[in-house]
Amino acid sequence: MMRLAVMVSGSGSNLQALIDAQKAQQLNATINVVICDQPKAQAISRTLAARIPVICVPLAKKASREQWAEQISQLLAAFTPDLIVMAGWMKVMPAAFVERWTPNIINQHPALLPDDGGEFYTLSDGRQIPAIRGAHAVRDALDLGVPVTGCTVHQITPIVDVGPVLAKAEVAVLPNDDQASLHERIKQAERRILVDVINNLAQTVA
Ligand code: GRF
Repeated sequence: MMRLAVMVSGSGSNLQALIDAQKAQQLNATINVVICDQPKAQAISRTLAARIPVICVPLAKKASREQWAEQISQLLAAFTPDLIVMAGWMKVMPAAFVERWTPNIINQHPALLPDDGGEFYTLSDGRQIPAIRGAHAVRDALDLGVPVTGCTVHQITPIVDVGPVLAKAEVAVLPNDDQASLHERIKQAERRILVDVINNLAQTVA
């Protein structure tokens, strides 16, 4: 069975989807550890409720990001993961961390990222929208007035939000959407494609 380490920062609804899929035997993988950088994140209680080990590793204000990332690498290594899933992990990791784990590290992004790493995304109906990267992708989609946004699961590379795309789903922006309503619909799509991606990758792990 493929061994997963999941990295989270927030509410953990995507993590919950993985936990639920695992319980329902619809995930061809086992979550062996969850790493969280936010001591008050709801993701921690979700993990404990599922009796999965969770390790909280906040980045102290004056700490070196490189040392902190190296500690996380060592913690991860102790659990010998086949795949690391950044499921709402909100910190950009140093290149040394990414290089250590690539290609076995994937990330979710709440917008559509193009396969070519470029500046535009071509929707299924042929229209082009800007590729929306960064930490405020849902808000930026509303500000830009795009008709459709969505979500992407991609491999991590040292360049943020560019790595090879594994799966994506389009989500229409509705006239009365605010950030919360749009993000909730995006997350519904994210939970679905994340489970699919992991099950696809599991086929390549003995
Ligand atoms: C997701 O939309 C993910 O793409 C983004 O953060 C959100 C995490 O949501 N990076 P949750 O913590 O899984 O509910």
